[in-house]
Amino acid sequence: MERTLVLLKPDCVQRRLMGRVIGRLEDKGLNIVAMKLMRVTPELAKKHYAEHVKKDWYPELEKFITSAPLAAMIVEGPEAIRVVREMVGATNGLKAAPGTVRGDFSTSQQMNLIHASDGPESAVREIGIFFTPSEICEYTPTLRQWQHPG
Ligand code: CDP
Ligand code: MG
Repeated sequence: MERTLVLLKPDCVQRRLMGRVIGRLEDKGLNIVAMKLMRVTPELAKKHYAEHVKKDWYPELEKFITSAPLAAMIVEGPEAIRVVREMVGATNGLKAAPGTVRGDFSTSQQMNLIHASDGPESAVREIGIFFTPSEICEYTPTLRQWQHPG
């Protein structure tokens, strides 16, 4: 079982697409174990996007990500990190495959609706940035018996 951080970015909130994107995660049988709407500060943006802070496009990204609320979630499931990344699609909405969230809803390199952790270390790091342990609601999904053995 893995956990990954998902952010529904300000464009997703403003375009009223949260429900459809969350619906895809639920349809896949993934388990949402934490969720909140919040406004990202420039300080939090720099922490989350630490690997990109020096890039010439970072100031624009910070402006975008702090421009309106976003929804942060922890999503759990077997191989959830890879599975969610594949559902999200390539960074640029114009290049993302049809069937992915970005491929179906975005035509932008920056305003691409959703963030998902790109590996086990990023998942742990990013979950720690956005959530305290007490905000995580563990439960046993009754669906699980139909998803995988054991
Ligand atoms: O989100 P993902 O891991 O697919 O892409 P990234 O290369 O780690 O970049 C993080 C985020 O920065 C992207 O999702 C875009 O929102 C934004 N970005 C941007 O504004 N301009 C770029 N040239 C590349 C990425
Ligand atoms: Mg990335």
